[in-house]
Amino acid sequence: MNKIKVNFEKMYYGFPVFLVSYYDKEGNPNVTTISSSYSLRDMVALGFSSKGYAINQIKEVSDFVINIADSKLLDEIEFCGKNTGSECKKFEHLNLTHVPSTTINAPIIKECPISIECTLTDVIESQNYSGITNILALIKGRLVDESYLDEKGNLKVSAFDNILYIRDGVNRGFRYMKKEQ
Ligand SMILES: Cc1cc2nc3c(=O)[nH]c(=O)nc-3n(C[C@H](O)[C@H](O)[C@H](O)COP(=O)(O)O)c2cc1C
Repeated sequence: MNKIKVNFEKMYYGFPVFLVSYYDKEGNPNVTTISSSYSLRDMVALGFSSKGYAINQIKEVSDFVINIADSKLLDEIEFCGKNTGSECKKFEHLNLTHVPSTTINAPIIKECPISIECTLTDVIESQNYSGITNILALIKGRLVDESYLDEKGNLKVSAFDNILYIRDGVNRGFRYMKKEQ
């Protein structure tokens, strides 16, 4: 390989896109689009722009759900990634069904094949990365559509249809983990 040194503003090298749903301080359901995350055991780490409505509500209410989107939900992903909850109750503009979690105080999105119920544990706002809020959260429950499970109840890897986000600050786009037939 012949690697070229580049000077991109950022490089998102294919992160799974998901919808974070929560009840705001007034109890209204709302949702935002996120792609910055990783998970180890019962911990998940998410990265937010500090000015977003969702992160500032989650810092107060603590509970939220990570809803993994599939390729059918691209319009919803873009809508929730362009609009802010400070100006609109996004569920009122979307064909998405929110149902209360029985584990935490947050709504689950029915149309997403995987929902992960979380409670905020740590907020990391470092002077080294001004404008970025990283959070750690405890995973309290995982819900997986039966089509994503094999006969033993384990994950069916071939069923995954995640949307992967790729961006360098100029170009942006999605790749799809198409279902194997
Ligand atoms: C594909 C995609 C991925 C995104 N990933 C993130 C992310 O990881 N962190 C973040 O803070 N914003 C991310 N955004 C931008 C937010 O979704 C956007 O700023 C949104 O309007 C914030 O809404 P809110 O103010 O209701 O929180 C992403 C947007 C898109 C379309």
